[in-house]
Amino acid sequence: MQNIIEQIKKLEATSETLEIPLSQREYLQGKTNAFTNEYIDALPALKSFLDKKANESIIKITDKQKSIEEVLKIFKDEVLDTGIRAASGGHIGYIPGGGIFASAIGDYLAAVSNEYAGVSYASPGAVAIENEAINWLKKIFSFPETAIGNLTSGGSIANLIALTAARDKFQIKNNKIPFSVIYMSEQVHHCIHKSLRIIGLEDVQIRYVKLDEHYRINPEQLKEQILADKANGLNPFLVIASAGTTDVGAIDPLDDIAAIAAKENLWFHVDAAYGGFFILTSKKNWFKGIEKADSLVVDPHKGMFLPYGLGAVLIKDAKAVLHSNHYAANYMQDALSDDLVNDPANVSPELTKHFRGMRIWLPLQLHGIEPFKACLEEKLLLTKYARKRLIDMGFQVGPEPDLSVSYFWHPFVGDANAFNRKLMQNIHEDGTVFLSSTLIKDQFVIRIAILSFRTKLATIDSMLSMIQACLEKTKKEFAL
Ligand SMILES: Cc1ncc(COP(=O)(O)O)c(C=O)c1O
Repeated sequence: MQNIIEQIKKLEATSETLEIPLSQREYLQGKTNAFTNEYIDALPALKSFLDKKANESIIKITDKQKSIEEVLKIFKDEVLDTGIRAASGGHIGYIPGGGIFASAIGDYLAAVSNEYAGVSYASPGAVAIENEAINWLKKIFSFPETAIGNLTSGGSIANLIALTAARDKFQIKNNKIPFSVIYMSEQVHHCIHKSLRIIGLEDVQIRYVKLDEHYRINPEQLKEQILADKANGLNPFLVIASAGTTDVGAIDPLDDIAAIAAKENLWFHVDAAYGGFFILTSKKNWFKGIEKADSLVVDPHKGMFLPYGLGAVLIKDAKAVLHSNHYAANYMQDALSDDLVNDPANVSPELTKHFRGMRIWLPLQLHGIEPFKACLEEKLLLTKYARKRLIDMGFQVGPEPDLSVSYFWHPFVGDANAFNRKLMQNIHEDGTVFLSSTLIKDQFVIRIAILSFRTKLATIDSMLSMIQACLEKTKKEFAL
């Protein structure tokens, strides 16, 4: 026994260094706070994209201890100063992230307290906050109180949970798979396809419904296709609409699709990961019908400007969700509760999870909702402004966007794709503002996705100056 005690005491000398004493904690906090504050203030003047890779030998984990100063330097050089500066207002590519500071405080509190947000028994307060965030979302999207929800790591996992519920509701398994049909737009986010593969539905029949000139699903075509498939003995069970597509920000006609899904007895899923929160703006009417969805995905780490790591799913049929996600294990017996849907672990593949509720709950407590609404409305106007200015500069633009993603291209006479690809390269090399590209009907176009809370009028003006300079450069390279 004495031997064991001596061994424990010996180990304690080293293991207790993980519990950092107050004075050292204050030192680390001071250094980290100074670093992050300096970074936030410097953001407007920094490039938004640096085409530089991280040095893997510098970030290597070794046995050698480093000081916080050394670590922060590595973080700056190898992380902050490589690739897309996601916290910058100049991130206007893909779907921009945000990174509001209040959310970081929420994450910090969640991490320091390490509250267990998987089951209510472990942390009734943490789970209540998670569920309050879900309830708040239900109100925004006019979902019934009886709907269930989950805060996920992002839109991909949120879609995965929703599509799994649709699969289980209709029991799409075994020999039912090959003749079951899912309807969607070609513009759905690729995470939908990933989810279908993961949940064993790779071999279902997928119908890409014809789109109108704004890249929205044509409901008449949808109806005709479902009826034709039924007449051919197939099993239509799911229609997926988008409220804000990734490429062009299109909102499918939700109300019409909802009516068709209800009449034909299909699960109606809406992926509003990017566009959902625009329901809080003057665009509200465009979302009519979203409340009729069987399942809905929204991403607060997009439309609520939170740092990456928060998506959400709402689903009306709790039974379908519990079917795949609820499991009772012996070692969990103390945590059992009759209120199954109250525990996040029962409605998601995760058991232990980051207490993500804090990253949305805390900002809403500190700011209220108004600044978020204003910010979203501002993004819509900035999109209009950017498009008008680009037209004046001689660019072609895509159709009037439904939300804040749009695209443009230079009408180069000759190989327009090659010209615009070169223009994109020059924009990336410049890096003042980061834009991304896509293909629309095989045409190379440059996307403008305005969603960062830090993207302001001045950012758009600086983007336009950068585009102009890059255009001149590209013209020279093409000897124009
Ligand atoms: C419409 C849409 N759905 C889903 C996703 C996937 O979300 P996440 O990247 O958070 O997993 C995205 C990402 O951009 C998206 O735009």
